[in-house]
Amino acid sequence: MNSPDVHTEATDTIVYVNGALVPKSEAVISIYDSGFCHGDGAYEGIRLYDGKVFRLEAHIRRLFEALVMLGIDPGVSRDEMTEIVLETFRANSLRTDLHMRLQVTRGRKRMTGMNPKLNIGPATIVAFVDHKPPIFDKSGITLITSTLRRASPNVIDAKIHHINQLNQILASIEANRQGADEAIMLDDRGFVAETNSTTLFCAKDGVLMTPLPTFIVVGITRNLLLDMAHAEGWKTREADLSLYDFITADEVFICGTVGELVPVKAIDGRAIGAGGPGPITQHLMRRYKALTHTEGTAI
Ligand SMILES: Cc1ncc(COP(=O)(O)O)c(C=O)c1O
Repeated sequence: MNSPDVHTEATDTIVYVNGALVPKSEAVISIYDSGFCHGDGAYEGIRLYDGKVFRLEAHIRRLFEALVMLGIDPGVSRDEMTEIVLETFRANSLRTDLHMRLQVTRGRKRMTGMNPKLNIGPATIVAFVDHKPPIFDKSGITLITSTLRRASPNVIDAKIHHINQLNQILASIEANRQGADEAIMLDDRGFVAETNSTTLFCAKDGVLMTPLPTFIVVGITRNLLLDMAHAEGWKTREADLSLYDFITADEVFICGTVGELVPVKAIDGRAIGAGGPGPITQHLMRRYKALTHTEGTAI
């Protein structure tokens, strides 16, 4: 994974903090911010390719859906939020490999305490921008299965793309301890949900399969790949899939905005398929890459 030094000149990007555009090394928010105190907010991870923002409308839509579910009024319209994204990217000189975390929290609190009645003032809106090429090794990564379950809608609906990521961070620590890149998280019935930060797909006998959108962040990349597969005339299945389906698949890959599509070489130490990225994965990797160069909202 690439991890550029936050304060080197090359990475001192311009970020947006509550109406101001500032160098990221100087950006500050209150220690009383609900995001800092409680992980109380929603976010989107968004990419800029060749001066164009990929799938911007879908990101803004999912962000506003999460805010509705969390009862947070961002204080700006969808169009204004879209403009925040565009102006923040415009303020940076790099035109590609920029990744934005657009984050909205419930804002500042009068004093510590989780009750939203303690909140004063408007929501906090921050658009972090980093120079961040796709973060995984495209030749293939390894996964382990986490001992932790992805939250069910009984606990917190994973469809809400919220900033409270401890569930996934603890799974990521398990992956780190075992020398793997990501951790597969099962749902509370034992079916595969997603990895700690990405969506999962597998392909077997020419059928492309992915878990149902029940215990997962409904990935924008996921939905795009399903559309691409349909356009190719391929068979697809959204279903309850177990580790059996993934470990015995011909191909497995992860996907998401931050890392694009990445083949999986092994799960829990067991090699997947024939070794290298399979033909379905390679085809989708090429199609996705091509689309990122042709589609998008110009800044
Ligand atoms: C847990 C999780 N799964 C999947 C994704 C991928 O979503 P997308 O394809 O919309 O980037 C994300 C992205 O933030 C995520 O946090």
